[in-house]
Amino acid sequence: MSAIVLIGSQWGDEGKGKITDFLAEKADCVVRYQGGSNAGHTVEVLDQQFKLHLIPSGILYPNTRCIVGNGVVVDMGELINELERLQSQGIDTKNLRISSRAPLVLPYHKKIDNLEDRATNIGTTKRGIGPTYADKINRTGFRISDLLDSRAYFEPRLEAQVKQKNRIIEEIYGEAGFDYRELLTELQEQVERLRPYIADTSLLIYQALKEGQKVLFEGAQGTLLDIDHGTYPFVTSSHPIAGGACVGAGVGPTCIDRVIGVAKAYTTRVGEGPFPTELHDADGDMLQRRGMEFGTTTGRKRRCGWLDAVILRYAVRLNGLTDLAITKLDVLDEFALVKICTGYKYKGTLINEFPESIEVLEGCEPVYMELPGWQQDITGATEYEQLPPNARRYLDVIYDLTGVKQTLIAVGPKRSQTIVQEQIF
Ligand code: IMP
Repeated sequence: MSAIVLIGSQWGDEGKGKITDFLAEKADCVVRYQGGSNAGHTVEVLDQQFKLHLIPSGILYPNTRCIVGNGVVVDMGELINELERLQSQGIDTKNLRISSRAPLVLPYHKKIDNLEDRATNIGTTKRGIGPTYADKINRTGFRISDLLDSRAYFEPRLEAQVKQKNRIIEEIYGEAGFDYRELLTELQEQVERLRPYIADTSLLIYQALKEGQKVLFEGAQGTLLDIDHGTYPFVTSSHPIAGGACVGAGVGPTCIDRVIGVAKAYTTRVGEGPFPTELHDADGDMLQRRGMEFGTTTGRKRRCGWLDAVILRYAVRLNGLTDLAITKLDVLDEFALVKICTGYKYKGTLINEFPESIEVLEGCEPVYMELPGWQQDITGATEYEQLPPNARRYLDVIYDLTGVKQTLIAVGPKRSQTIVQEQIF
């Protein structure tokens, strides 16, 4: 197996950073393929905590090549801050490569994201993600490579775009717009800082695969935030599903060998939108507290609820999952009773498939299977057999409901707190 895609099976924040970090040890190359600095991965290594937004978590290994693919929207200022932060923590960043085709998040995208979110109430991360992807699709955006071309080509296009965006910002929202000359100077300074990292990353990945290297494609966000298949309009503007890896990294689908879905042992969501198993009670508070469920990027409290197998089955279908990585199982340690949603009731009818309509989803009541908790600390378990019988039963039920083997089980935030059922790579 040489190419693996790792995706979030729920609404993001499944603990992909930890699993990527775990797999990255054996990977030659880790690739981000969508999203931008809306993503937030926290990785703990030797009592040091690293927060990553744009750079793949593989950067923490000195010999792993890390790639920010063409599908990622890049805020160069944020990227430079992240690089400097990592360097100050003693991390060598020489193995990073950034696609020259990656679209640029510009200050006006962030401003418009802020202003528009007040009206749409999606609860975006305000990182300019939606407006940048909108410009890309509208063919009015800029790529990193544009800044490497002659100024004569780039400058008039930037001037025209800034003029247009200023009309929206000033005339619709009555706020201050941007000066294109100041912006141009800032962008040129930033691209010079990043120049050593910029490359044709699709080619680099192709060469790596041809040489038989192990490549890990690291999805950000999660299946239900996919622009096409998620809970639209309460979604992000990219394709976090496995199919997004091909487009966002510039590789063909035949090179993918395996797709791992990361799923938290319960469910969380940040931002607005329906969430059938959401809890508004002491159990929800306990999940939030024990799971330390705060967004890495925005600091917002995450909404919490029981595990939803309807969502997991949907993720199996959309991503072609071959494996599951269950994370944060230890967060359930104190519960006397745990629940798994096996289906939904909508207007008295049982639904087993994730609904297409947001209105139907909003009206769905979860149907639960109740299981006894294990009320035992599992954070020291290093083998499946060391888990209490009720924890194993919980995992068995997830297997029965999804049909996908659980290759990795995380029982704490550290690299060492990972039960490996089968070697990957
Ligand atoms: P955007 O990606 O900033 O446009 O936000 C759109 C929606 O996706 C909002 O509900 C965000 O809270 C959610 N979102 C974006 N990135 C993440 C993430 O990394 N984890 C969880 N939710 C996210």
